[in-house]
Amino acid sequence: MYAGHGIGGGTDRAARRKRVTAPELRERKRGEPFTMVTAYDFTMARLLDEAGIDVLLVGDSLGMVVQGHDTTLPVTLDEICYHTRCVARGASFAHVVGDMPFMSYQVSPEQAVESAGKLVKEGSASSVKLEGGADVAPHVARIVRAGIPVMGHDGLTPQSVHALGGFKVQGKTKSAAQRIIDDALALEEAGAYAVVLEAIPADVAARVTDALTIPTIGIGAGPSCDGQVLVCYDLLGMNLGHTPKFAKAFADVGERVRDAAKSFASAVRERSFPAPEHCYAGEVAAKAKLVAL
Ligand code: KIV
Repeated sequence: MYAGHGIGGGTDRAARRKRVTAPELRERKRGEPFTMVTAYDFTMARLLDEAGIDVLLVGDSLGMVVQGHDTTLPVTLDEICYHTRCVARGASFAHVVGDMPFMSYQVSPEQAVESAGKLVKEGSASSVKLEGGADVAPHVARIVRAGIPVMGHDGLTPQSVHALGGFKVQGKTKSAAQRIIDDALALEEAGAYAVVLEAIPADVAARVTDALTIPTIGIGAGPSCDGQVLVCYDLLGMNLGHTPKFAKAFADVGERVRDAAKSFASAVRERSFPAPEHCYAGEVAAKAKLVAL
């Protein structure tokens, strides 16, 4: 174990209330907006958890921001499982959602329930998320029947990037907006406890939010949603590529990382690091000179 981890940190963790559940999130419809942030590892999960973020999503966006792919399509169920386990170990308060990757549920409701089961059983996810609308409603219903809460994902569904012709804002025409509303209603009907709305006009998101009895969670969907979600690297200002219009950086961590790395490199080159306070004293050195071989 890396000695810097697991020591100290989270002084008031024991005083924290228990983990946020899917039924609790469902009840937060029209209440104070709740927060969801993506996380992919233990340390980030713990920091976000300590900050009181309600939901940690182990998104398949990890294919882009962790693995460096152009899309989320190459991500495997085993990879999401691995990252979900890491995040779950870091979160004691936040609800942990495992994102179902491309082709881990589309084939059939049976495939969907098997994949969802793996994310809960091996990944320690508290619920799962999948993309799509009426087309995946039977898959959602099957997973819910197995006792696993499901979060839907409507609007821009990145796993359909090729069918959509790119990462484009959805629901701009009347018929496209109606389809998004119908899809969200189908997800609710199938038993989803919440629905992510990605990259759709704010007024369409407001109409979806009004139409549903379950919460909507917006990303590029305006302020009317019941919750808001951001990718952690967008929130922290660590976005290396194209920054979507909806992504607000609440800090400039990317620049701080570059500065810190440059300071470390200079200190090493000029031998000011490590300083005496970073060095261990040994008995041998104190008592006798070591003989060079
Ligand atoms: O994979 C992901 O990070 C997501 C969010 C953008 C909602 O699905």
